[in-house]
Amino acid sequence: MNVIFMGPPGAGKGTQAERIVSEFKIPHISTGDAFRLAMKLETPLGVEAKRYVDQGLLVPDEITIGIVRERLQQADCVPGFLLDGFPRTLSQAEALDEILGSMGRSIDHVINLQVDRNLLLARLTGRRICRSCGATYHVLFNPPAKEGVCDKCSGELYQRSDDTEEKVGTRLDEYINKTAPLLEYYANKGQLRQVDGEQEINQVTEQINSLLRGQA
Ligand code: AP5
Ligand code: ZN
Repeated sequence: MNVIFMGPPGAGKGTQAERIVSEFKIPHISTGDAFRLAMKLETPLGVEAKRYVDQGLLVPDEITIGIVRERLQQADCVPGFLLDGFPRTLSQAEALDEILGSMGRSIDHVINLQVDRNLLLARLTGRRICRSCGATYHVLFNPPAKEGVCDKCSGELYQRSDDTEEKVGTRLDEYINKTAPLLEYYANKGQLRQVDGEQEINQVTEQINSLLRGQA
């Protein structure tokens, strides 16, 4: 099963992806996670990506497409994959079609998580992430049992550098200008599935599960 998760920053893509990949046993391919790892390791890719990510801007297409092209050719993607945060521009969507086409594959579902802009700001500024295992929390909506400590691995929780109010504003503008037009691209192909991302986390998971299993 080949799936894309779309939606604005903070819509819940990462939260839901964690659950769906463990249910369907497919790899989670997050371009945002790939950039953050490269930034942490200070690789040439990380140094280049940091110039954009830290400002809330999209990383140039040729860099991002190269990463996804390489990743999709790995053996663990054969049973399927979940793309989270890619594609984000029309050029990326067209490149993805070309990459999958050359492998004789195609996308089965594009899940779009819909959340109002005001709620996105609250979600992102309150988000905390585990430094060790990457699990996502929210200080109000999904708090850990002990403040600042991961429930799963006792790792330290931190705030992403692009989750400040100012950077979130830039990220939302980038989404509206460059990514939102892709919804029409996938709607025209008959692949777009809308999900109300404002529901409680478990309800969103249930709805996505039903869609992917063809029961909705
Ligand atoms: P990326 O890491 O992809 O960030 P994003 O799209 O901005 O998405 P987020 O990770 O911020 O949000 P999410 O939807 O995963 O929400 P989450 O589940 O965490 O990209 C970062 C940067 O990398 C980009 O700005 C860009 O620079 C670069 N980049 C990445 N991909 C690129 C590409 N293709 N092209 C170019 N550049 C690229 O949830 C948010 C919070 O809400 C959490 O605290 C969570 O606990 C809470 N929450 C989630 N669901 C619910 C719910 N239902 N109810 C209540 N709270 C909830
Ligand atoms: Zn953890």
